Amino acid sequence: MSALDEIKIGGLGASRKRVEDNRFIRGKGNYTDDIALPGMLHMEILRSPLAHARIKSIDTSKAWDIPGVHLVLTGEMMATRNLAWMPTLSYDTQAVLATDKVRFQGQEVACVIADDPYIAKDACEAIDVDYEPLPVIVNPRQAVAEGAPVIRDDKENQAGNVIYDWEVGDKAGTDRAFEQADLVSKLQLHYPRSHPSPIECCGSIADFNRATSKLTVYMTTQAPHIIRAAVALVAELPEHMIRIISPDIGGGFGNKVPVYPGYVCSILASILLERPVKWIEDKSGNLISTGFARDVYLDGEMALRRDGKILGVRIHTDADHGAFFSDAQPSKFKIGLMHSAFAAYDIPAAHLTARGTYSNKAPGGVAYRCSFRVTEAMFFQERMIQAAADDLGMDQAAFRRMNFVRDEDFPHRTPFGFLLDSGQYAKCLDVGLKAVGYEEFRREQAEARKRGRLLGLGISTMTEPLGAGNSREYDILGIKMFDSADLKVHMTGKAILRTGAKTQGQGHETTWAQIVAHELGIPAEDVVVEEGDTDTAPFGMGTYASRSTPVAGAAVAMVSRKIRAKARKLAAHLLEVSEEDVEWELGRFYVRSAPDRGVTIQECAMAAYSNMPDGMEPGLENTAYYDPPNLTWPFACYIVTVEVDPQTGVWDVLKMVAVDDCGVRINPMIVEGQIMGGLTEAYAMASMQFITFDADGNCVGSNYMDYLLPSAWETPGFELHSEVVTPCPHHPIGAKGIGECAAVGGPAAFVNAVIDALGGTGVRNIDMPLLPDRVWEAATYHRDVSGAPPVRADD
Ligand code: CDP
Repeated sequence: MSALDEIKIGGLGASRKRVEDNRFIRGKGNYTDDIALPGMLHMEILRSPLAHARIKSIDTSKAWDIPGVHLVLTGEMMATRNLAWMPTLSYDTQAVLATDKVRFQGQEVACVIADDPYIAKDACEAIDVDYEPLPVIVNPRQAVAEGAPVIRDDKENQAGNVIYDWEVGDKAGTDRAFEQADLVSKLQLHYPRSHPSPIECCGSIADFNRATSKLTVYMTTQAPHIIRAAVALVAELPEHMIRIISPDIGGGFGNKVPVYPGYVCSILASILLERPVKWIEDKSGNLISTGFARDVYLDGEMALRRDGKILGVRIHTDADHGAFFSDAQPSKFKIGLMHSAFAAYDIPAAHLTARGTYSNKAPGGVAYRCSFRVTEAMFFQERMIQAAADDLGMDQAAFRRMNFVRDEDFPHRTPFGFLLDSGQYAKCLDVGLKAVGYEEFRREQAEARKRGRLLGLGISTMTEPLGAGNSREYDILGIKMFDSADLKVHMTGKAILRTGAKTQGQGHETTWAQIVAHELGIPAEDVVVEEGDTDTAPFGMGTYASRSTPVAGAAVAMVSRKIRAKARKLAAHLLEVSEEDVEWELGRFYVRSAPDRGVTIQECAMAAYSNMPDGMEPGLENTAYYDPPNLTWPFACYIVTVEVDPQTGVWDVLKMVAVDDCGVRINPMIVEGQIMGGLTEAYAMASMQFITFDADGNCVGSNYMDYLLPSAWETPGFELHSEVVTPCPHHPIGAKGIGECAAVGGPAAFVNAVIDALGGTGVRNIDMPLLPDRVWEAATYHRDVSGAPPVRADD
């Protein structure tokens, strides 16, 4: 008997079709809005039309009079239950329903619960709110200006609008590096606000059962256990009486990590009315009030030696967090992992200062397909690298290669303290350059320039930290960042696996089963994967920041190994030899001295319930909690070529190549899907997604006519390369995260390509999105173009 063929059983490396798609493509998914409970009521939210205004009065009497209305909630009513404000995941507070002031356009002011959502919506319109407008702040410059209105006057000891001032790195060493520099290169830019815009908006159905005292909440959350803990702490309900179920999720991208007022109001309404209450956010509500990302002003300089060696880097960031500091992040870092910037480069000294401020905008800073703030960090890094190479008059690829951390230098400590453990950066770059035809393109570009055609090439090479924890350094609200897996192998060798992660389209149901197949030889199709129900799944921190494979995926491998260890004992019993004489090959234990004598993993499973040795606990089940020793560090090289039309500013992608090294690929097809999706989002951010604020705090572009979701029609083709594989040395199966790499590293490649096309004009920066009018302005007037708010409403 020979070992199983791993690919045939759907193990590691198999491009297995996604099992979850069986239900999704048949329209049989089970999303929050698909759930209808007996006696269910519907909730709608009244939002503020103004960005900053004192609430003089709220008259709800007309709303109460509308037939079919069961409850009208206001901040004042919430306050009687100590629920007008809630704590955020960043140790701030956020208004659930406004009491004193509204602080951003779209803020939640009141809720109506009615027989159906239409009645509830009509009743919201019948609520009369008397606002007294206040001066508005829409950027950090205004936030710290003298005499600026204090947005968070609800907070004791909050004199101005600054949330934090933070620094990290070696200031003195960096100052010395700049003293020794032959050249200092500078860059300033704004990474604009963007919105994850999952196809499914946020929503919840709270169902409080007075008879059992149990609260069940179906909701669109990427982190159900964190929500359970938050509900226990905020609503002061006993944790074992709270069940959070996150059913199928139609995309999350970070939008579904925070706790939103709608969740809290639906829970309170269900408790008060003793009936299930459903809240499904509409598209406009989602787009203007939840889960904004980025909005960071970056200002940096690089100390350079004439030969191209980078001696040091200084970065200052101003982060606009909106009215409440509510993004989830490993709190001690203040601005997420912004200091992962320049990790791929061997830079002796670096210093970063960061200031966070409030503004009259919806809470921002969620990690949209990114590990906290790495998207901004990598974008700035790669834009700065291009600017520095240009200032030196050096070739873009050669400058990167010269400064990369070299293969032989791992493990490498970055100047901000991260430990990089593996990578082949130069090889990735070489594969990318060859694929794009670098030398030939440069010749073609020079020729085209003579004829007035503007061709450009942009490179983005980056490594990002994926997989928070370890628990020593990473926590959210003090809850350590680890993850978990629970595996139950049934009598017939079929199994159910549950993890503390929560898939939102990434394909965990497919890939986790592949890890079990790899570790145990149980065919992947015999393993069903369940996530998202806090009554059944082991405690975990959820899915965001591409942490699932690095942490929960590792837990899946570890729990499988625990099962294998017990199965070995069962095999020894069945084979009547001592455990030391038993060898393992995929799917089977055999006697070392007689390889033909063996038992399959399925036979061991049967024995665990029917023929276990004396004294052995029956069953074949276990749980593993995994606390990673380090983050994983995937690497990517993205290269784009473009042609810019100087007459119109329109730019077209000619070619894009992507070389991603995410270590061992569990499912190569899913990995490619993740990369393509990420590159599509990167292209959208770079080219078309426009959402900003005018001087009155009105959210401009807050509709899907302006904030464009790219379809297959606009999206360029991508050429993917998978030949560089550097296994993660500490991950049990050598995998690194991949989910967000392309969305993180991609935008700089597009912008660099357009700036390169304008080479020689002195244009250093055009803020995203690179809309044709901005590119035209830069190409025509040879000047940088800022996209920072406030904009004119007609822009
Ligand atoms: O946390 P999230 O699921 O968003 O991101 P991820 O861990 O990077 O995984 C995204 C998807 O790619 C999952 O289905 C993973 O199992 C899969 N993947 C893989 O097949 N091989 C890798 N080395 C990394 C991820």
